[in-house]
Amino acid sequence: MRTLIHEWKSSGQTVGFVPTMGNLHEGHLKLVEEANKRSDRVVVSIFVNPMQFGENEDFDNYPRTQEQDIEKLKGLSTDAVFIPSADDIYPEQIDRSSFVEVPELSTILCGASRPGHFRGVTTVVNKLFNIVQPDCAVFGLKDYQQFIIIKKMVDDLKMPVQMIGVETVRESDGLAKSSRNGYLNQQQRQQAATIYEILRSIKTEIQQGRKDYLALEKEGLGQLEKVGFKPDYVAIRCAESLQVPAAETRTLAILVAAWLGNTRLIDNIRL
Ligand code: PAF
Repeated sequence: MRTLIHEWKSSGQTVGFVPTMGNLHEGHLKLVEEANKRSDRVVVSIFVNPMQFGENEDFDNYPRTQEQDIEKLKGLSTDAVFIPSADDIYPEQIDRSSFVEVPELSTILCGASRPGHFRGVTTVVNKLFNIVQPDCAVFGLKDYQQFIIIKKMVDDLKMPVQMIGVETVRESDGLAKSSRNGYLNQQQRQQAATIYEILRSIKTEIQQGRKDYLALEKEGLGQLEKVGFKPDYVAIRCAESLQVPAAETRTLAILVAAWLGNTRLIDNIRL
């Protein structure tokens, strides 16, 4: 990978990078298109990162569809697909390896119910950036907290990588595209679109002047429960810091995480 990057960079070409865990869907393909627009060469990585999965999470069952993924990327003028093994990335036991962690932001919202998850994300993204040395990296905004955390890591550690976020791609009923949607049965799949409906209705309420965010969050939780979700959180936060909004906060993010059976779904919108 480094030899290839060196060849490209020494002839003055720029490199765009899309890190993924594979099982590529339309949302990922949008990221690749964006990287293509912004750089001469595009690298996509596929690595199901064990460090970002908790003990009882879906690491073993996470969909692995390497051949189909490569076929999809062939149609999109990707210059290289980087598929490291777990030994390449973690030559030692994970708990004996160095890590990178963004404090505080990694322990709120999804970080509160998935301890260690964001440490796993920032560590692997750091390693991938060190290998691929991209000029820009493209991430989906469906994982909004992840985007903000990686952006902070890049800023804090002075990494020479431009961070680009791409808007969520949705199914026709509004459900955000996600590899985990494949876990849903038919009935759950229908229920799942409620998340986006609730996000949109909270957004409308705020645009119409409501400022009682705690009450709005509570109403959102109630609506999710009513249609069969076990909500983790509904949160209205400052879109830049993910902190509780202050009077002067200009941009808000409304974020939801909720369980439908054994599947944990997340989504967000900003205003
Ligand atoms: O969003 C993902 O697919 C993963 O968290 C990432 C950024 C590829 C790191 O493993």
